[in-house]
Amino acid sequence: MMSYSCNIVVLLLPLVVFTLALNANANSFESLLQLPRRQSRSTRTRPRSERILHVGHFGAKGNGFTDDTKAFVDAWKTACSSKSKTRILVPENYASLVRPIDLSGPCKARLTLQISGTIIAPSDPDDWEGLNLRKWIYFHGVSRLTVEGGGTVNGMGQEWWRRSCKHNHSNPCRGAPTALTFHKCKNMRVENINVIDSQQMHIAFTSCRRVSISGLKVIAPASSPNTDGIHISVSRGIVIDNTTVSTGDDCVSIVKNSSQISISNIVCGPGHGISIGSLGKSKSWEEVSDVTVDTASISDTENGVRIKTWQGGSGLVSNIIFRNINMNNVSNPIIIDQYYCDSKKPCANQTSALTIENIAFVRIRGTSASKQAIKITCSDTSPCRNILLEDIDLEPSNSDGYTKSFCWEAYGSSSGQVYPPSCLSHETSFLKQLVQSEITSVYL
Ligand SMILES: *[C@@H]1O[C@H](CO)[C@@H](O)[C@H](O)[C@H]1NC(C)=O
Ligand SMILES: *[C@@H]1O[C@H](CO)[C@@H](O)[C@H](O)[C@H]1NC(C)=O
Ligand SMILES: *[C@@H]1O[C@H](CO)[C@@H](O)[C@H](O)[C@H]1NC(C)=O
Ligand SMILES: *[C@@H]1O[C@H](CO)[C@@H](O)[C@H](O)[C@H]1NC(C)=O
Ligand SMILES: *[C@@H]1O[C@H](CO)[C@@H](O)[C@H](O)[C@H]1NC(C)=O
Repeated sequence: MMSYSCNIVVLLLPLVVFTLALNANANSFESLLQLPRRQSRSTRTRPRSERILHVGHFGAKGNGFTDDTKAFVDAWKTACSSKSKTRILVPENYASLVRPIDLSGPCKARLTLQISGTIIAPSDPDDWEGLNLRKWIYFHGVSRLTVEGGGTVNGMGQEWWRRSCKHNHSNPCRGAPTALTFHKCKNMRVENINVIDSQQMHIAFTSCRRVSISGLKVIAPASSPNTDGIHISVSRGIVIDNTTVSTGDDCVSIVKNSSQISISNIVCGPGHGISIGSLGKSKSWEEVSDVTVDTASISDTENGVRIKTWQGGSGLVSNIIFRNINMNNVSNPIIIDQYYCDSKKPCANQTSALTIENIAFVRIRGTSASKQAIKITCSDTSPCRNILLEDIDLEPSNSDGYTKSFCWEAYGSSSGQVYPPSCLSHETSFLKQLVQSEITSVYL
């Protein structure tokens, strides 16, 4: 008997802590983030010591067709080895053609890359022959870098999309470059930049710590394949604010052991919405925790806010808050899918699954393009726990219909008005079932 009650206490404890955190200050974990503080405009003065390196002085022509790659590499090398704060300037009237490049650190001092003009990728995929197909502009091992300037990074993805196996089924599926990749980065800022028409993903952070993104605009056609807006992998302490993403894939995707992610004031769509996952592919162990999405407008997307995991994986998705979200004609506004499978043949049923718990959907309103506005399908062996639905109103896009919710092995509670009506099973019945199965296993 002792062991049952102990187990219940152990189980309930995180639920209580989570609920308290949600009620007291749902952003509590955000305050743990130690982000580089943005100076207010009035105090932001450019120190005299900052060195400015104009890419033109390194031989860049900026005419849109001369290859400016060497000028960028040389400017980077000079800036990165400089002992004082340095700014690389791509001026407003420049359009620089840049081939795939590696810009590596560590650098000796703070660095700013000011893109006020445009950086253009080669339009011909054959220019990548013999190179890594996954990268165009690749930063690695860099800390204290700011990318800003109001200009544009143009991936010229049209030919890549045309050749993609998703568009031409006789072509093999292979990767395509991410426009901007930051690998092993730390204390970074990306501010007021447009990234358009990437070959595949637009901007990816892998193994990064403490990144602040604001005023980012990502734009690609809805039909462009795999063009995620912002991809976050193995990273911690990422803050995204005041950002617009319209693409052919996820606006933001968060995968592989990432935590402390805060997304606010985001406009998303068209595209596939804001996604946690996919996680647990090929039996991997993965964890994503402490994610808040607050104040978002999501329109004409395949999904709104989504958590997707593969069967057979393991790990944890926990402490996720989706709050103050406006949906406009979204096909799956609220979706948790523990049976994610994107291969052509159906994936085999497996017993192992990630644990999904402490997930809150609060004040999510607007219209759903499909009847099933809420869909929470969890694993038989690892049901979702402590899901909260609060103040939800998802009406059908076409005014004459209705919406409904679907749950499978999903436990939690609802509060306020919830439409379509919640389909969650009460937590207590989950606990009962758990105790029951434990009793059964004790006696078996
Ligand atoms: C599809 O790809 C094949 C092989 O690369 C090519 O021969 C064919 O012309 C392409 N089709 C279209 C419609 O682009
Ligand atoms: C939001 O970003 C845009 C650029 O995309 C910028 O012009 C605007 O000033 C930013 N607003 C705030 C409140 O930061
Ligand atoms: C995630 O973390 C787990 C446990 O620390 C580790 O085994 C796994 O390799 C990590 N995965 C990635 C992609 O870093
Ligand atoms: C809503 O989305 C559906 C499919 O995603 C689309 O066919 C339809 O035109 C959209 N409706 C409106 C009113 O935009
Ligand atoms: C997996 O299980 C579900 C539910 O029991 C069943 O409907 C489905 O056909 C199974 N899929 C496979 C590939 O066995």
